[in-house]
This record gives sequence, structure tokens and C-alpha cells, in this order.
Amino acid sequence: MSNKVTLTRFIIEQQREWPDASGTFTLLLNNIVTACKQIAHKVSRGQLIGVLGSAGSENVQGEVQKKLDIITHDIMVNQLIWTGHLAGMASEEIDDVITIPAHYTKGKYLVMFDPLDGSSNIDVNLAVGTIFSVLRCREGIEPTLDDFLAKGAEQVCAGFVLYGPSTMLILTTGQGVNGFTLDQDIGEFMLTHPNMRIPEETGEFAINMSNHRFWEAPVQRYIDECLQGKEGVRGKDFNMRWVASFVADVYRILNRGGVFLYPLDNRDPTKPAKLRIMYEANPMAFIIEQAGGMCTTGYERVLDIKPSGVHQRVPVILGSKNEVERIIRYHQDA
Ligand code: AHG
Ligand code: MN
Ligand code: MN
Ligand code: MN
Repeated sequence: MSNKVTLTRFIIEQQREWPDASGTFTLLLNNIVTACKQIAHKVSRGQLIGVLGSAGSENVQGEVQKKLDIITHDIMVNQLIWTGHLAGMASEEIDDVITIPAHYTKGKYLVMFDPLDGSSNIDVNLAVGTIFSVLRCREGIEPTLDDFLAKGAEQVCAGFVLYGPSTMLILTTGQGVNGFTLDQDIGEFMLTHPNMRIPEETGEFAINMSNHRFWEAPVQRYIDECLQGKEGVRGKDFNMRWVASFVADVYRILNRGGVFLYPLDNRDPTKPAKLRIMYEANPMAFIIEQAGGMCTTGYERVLDIKPSGVHQRVPVILGSKNEVERIIRYHQDA
């Protein structure tokens, strides 16, 4: 039997350090993780069980939903709604927040989630994931929209599961970032990447280059300098990666450093940014900062933003501290 620490043991041991540890949070996290294991199973079987392809419906984002967008949303809701730990939920895939029916006990947490991140990759068998964010909520009340619209700095937990060659859970509760790998033989996440830290220096950027002409000047300046390589002002060559799955790009940066940009662009004035603050930018910003990196819009720290809506989009620039600080300076100089 391996001497690796199970997620269950890790959370129970870490929970002893928590100010208001009541065991409820441990149970809630266990439910979230169980839902992700069910999603991992569906994702890994793909067309064998006919879950690939479009659902033919559109979500609140104006995106054509994949079948798995809906299937994974349903798994998250069905696994969490009865637990008695939640006051409410919010999902990328539906417009309104999800209230807890009267016949279920209400709890003191709110969970926001992106049930399938990177879903444009699912039909071509590339890595996808599930992102979740946990807020504490006033107890015994029907949460208002304002209860959900807390700053990212108020999160009590954030995590994501990456359905890649191996299935990994990356988790923070404000005491650093830890990575767990799913042992398929026993169905348990095992601690494999304790105390993940992002190198402050990097030579690797991640951005969707096809939007270059739509970016603001500071971002064009930063990327153009990277492309000039060692003959240019940066005096070094850069590498580029773009998976188009936020979870995969973020995990790579956690693992070996890098800088990720999904900046403002003026392609569509109604959608100047791509990533959603509540269930993409905020949870990833919490994780990145807890691992020694930074996450900004270019103009302000993402975790300091007071959200205006559950599906609000924000520009995201995150990763290795020294590169993010340089990009912030370029925005200040503009
Ligand atoms: P989702 O699949 O949950 O809608 O998120 C997709 C996001 C994010 O995962 C990724 O970084 C970005 O969209 C990719 O955008 P492009 O397809 O424009 O490159
Ligand atoms: Mn989507
Ligand atoms: Mn997403
Ligand atoms: Mn999604």
C-alpha cells in the first residue's frame, strides 16, 4: 500500500488548522470531489457512451452547448443540492443562481462552478476540466444575488480537476496549493504535488494569437517584444503554448511557470473579455496567488474586483510574478 496521503486524510489534517472548522466544509468538499470523479468517468468514456458532440442548445453565454456541458452541469447539481451544506449554487451553464429546494436543509456555503472548462476541446479529445469556487454565506437565509457577488478575495476554497492523461485535483483553502492525482484503482485522490509554487521567472507565454489586432496597446507591446526574441529588448527567446482549456494552461503554469493572457479585445463590443469572473477568473486567481504568482486584469488585481453579475467577464493576465508585474507596468505606462 503506497504511503501517499489520501485527499480525505489531507483535508481532515488541514482542517484542524481552520478557524471555524466544523467538518461541514470537509463533507462539502467530499461531495464536490465525488461529482468530479463521476465527470471524469463520463469524459474518459467519450463516444463509447455517446456523450460527445453538440447538444444543439445555447447557454446564457451565447455558446452552443456540448452534450457534456449539460451532463456535467447536472452531475454537479445532483451531487450537491441535497447535501445540506449549501445555501445556493451558480453554474456557467444556466442564467440564474440555483436555490436549494425547501425540502432540503440549507447550509452556509455557496459554490460557483464551470462544470466543463475547455469544452471546445472535448470532441477532439484534448484536456478539459471542472473549476469550482466556494464562498461562505449568511446562515439560514435565502441567499440574494448580492451574497454571490462577493470579491474573489473572500473565497474560502478554490479548485479545479484536470481531466488529462491523468485526472488531477488542484486545491487551495488559503494555506498554499496542493495537487492530487486520482488513483483509478481505488477511486481516491492521492497527494502527489504538495505545496506547488510558480517560478517567478519564465520564458513561456500563453495567448490566442489570432486576436492580436484586437488587443490594447500594452498587450500588443508585451507580446511583440516576446516575439522579437533575444535580438529584441527582452534579450531572450520565448516559447508559446495555447491549449484553449483554461484548466490545462493554468496547470502547466503551476507546474513550470509561464504567463497566461486572455486580455480585453475589441472584436465584439458586447463581450470585451472572455473569461467569467465568478467560476473561472476568481478561483484561478486564488490558486495562482496562493502558489506565489499574480493575477490581474492589467489594471487591477482580479481578487479585488466587486463582481457586477454572476456571468460577468473580465480580462485575465496571470502566472509568473516578474512577467505579470512587467505587463502591469506596460498598462500603467500606456
Ligand atoms: P468554457 O469551455 O468553460 O466555455 O471555457 C473556455 C475558455 C477557457 O477554457 C479557455 O482559456 C478559453 O475559453 C479559450 O478561448 P478561445 O477558444 O477563444 O481560444
Ligand atoms: Mn462554455
Ligand atoms: Mn471555462
Ligand atoms: Mn465551461
